[in-house]
Amino acid sequence: MNNFQFYNPVKIIFGKGQIAAVAREVPANARVMLTYGGGSIKKNGVYDQVMAALKNHQVIEFQGIEPNPRYETLMQAVSIARRGQVDFILAVGGGSVIDGTKFIAAAMLYDGDNPWDMLSKGIKAKKAVPFGTVLTLPGTGSEMNSGAVITRAETSEKFSFGSPFTFPQFSVLDPETTFTLPLRQISNGVADAFTHVLEQYLTYPVNAPLQDRMAEAVLLTLKEEGPKALDNPHDYDTMANIMWSATMALNGVIRVGVPTDWATHYIGHELTALHGIDHARTLAIVLPSLLRYKQETKKEKLLQYGERVWGVTVGTDDEKIEATIQATISFFESLDIRTRLQDYDVDEATIRTIVKRLQERGTKNLGERADIQIEDIEKILTRSL
Ligand code: NZQ
Ligand code: ZN
Repeated sequence: MNNFQFYNPVKIIFGKGQIAAVAREVPANARVMLTYGGGSIKKNGVYDQVMAALKNHQVIEFQGIEPNPRYETLMQAVSIARRGQVDFILAVGGGSVIDGTKFIAAAMLYDGDNPWDMLSKGIKAKKAVPFGTVLTLPGTGSEMNSGAVITRAETSEKFSFGSPFTFPQFSVLDPETTFTLPLRQISNGVADAFTHVLEQYLTYPVNAPLQDRMAEAVLLTLKEEGPKALDNPHDYDTMANIMWSATMALNGVIRVGVPTDWATHYIGHELTALHGIDHARTLAIVLPSLLRYKQETKKEKLLQYGERVWGVTVGTDDEKIEATIQATISFFESLDIRTRLQDYDVDEATIRTIVKRLQERGTKNLGERADIQIEDIEKILTRSL
């Protein structure tokens, strides 16, 4: 096992009726900014529950954080929050609202010239305004990690950042908030969480059987619960299991002491930036080709994943690996997620554009062995056509 440090200060408040806890979790004298998206929270009663919990607080609202949150929108929130001397932010929504809020919180106290540098140049935030979250869409894991992915519309760039200061203080996870989710968003959440686990598990063995089995536990749970959620999206227990699985997939626990890949996410972000394809769907497009392309260096873990998660035990190693990748593709397809670029009307021209952008950016050394270069990305995307 590799050396590691583990730090995760997020308080999780899980279950039915728990939004009321916001009243005591937000500091009593805080000037609060409530951040949310396009209005789903007004249709499902979540907004009313949050406002009831904040009835003794001073609150200003920032509505309109879009899916794949935009820097341009978030900077408007930063100036409103600064003018209003906001000292606590409450994010209510999915990964986009939570990610956007992490950026607002860090940008408000950023002491350099341009907060975009945290994304484009990797300059670390040194502080951030404290914030909490009320999660309404399980999938990204943003509710219990310190990372965020932000899009700059002007240049169609999508970059991530993270810092020890951008962990939420607390996150309320009430599975009932998911009952109004469109099926497409449930599918996205399951596929995103599933891929988060695979990016931290399908690498190479380092004799970390506990991390492996914890990763497999999350995969098996998502494999069982995902289809149930699509059949019965109002089943509390199913949604509770999906919610907690998605949080466990990306709160740092399964990553400790093991190598991680993240090339699928890196490549996927380019597809969202250029074509607006939902984040999870970009992963379902890229992952199968990446696994095939890297099957020699990922061989041992692919065989273990196949056997323990999909029950693949017969055939040569190559046959077992192919059956395992096919099972993964079928799982995505069973969630009604297409896995080829052509399903999204994307052709070679986009691959050429991506290659050019990566060359300009100097992208190199992706993956757990730092051996995925731009020419490999081109081949992986070509195999996804
Ligand atoms: O904006 P509203 O009106 O709230 O509607 C949203 C949005 O249109 C809707 N929605 C959310 N909760 C709902 C609901 N509709 C009905 N009922 C509810 N309860 O769903 C739509 C999509 O929301 P969004 O937040 O964009 O989805 P998701 O949670 O999948 O977040 C995707 C973003 O997270 C980033 C992605 O790159 C993408 O930008 N990620 C963040 C990560 C992190 N911070 O750790 C890791 C992930 O890999 C991912 O990259
Ligand atoms: Zn993801």
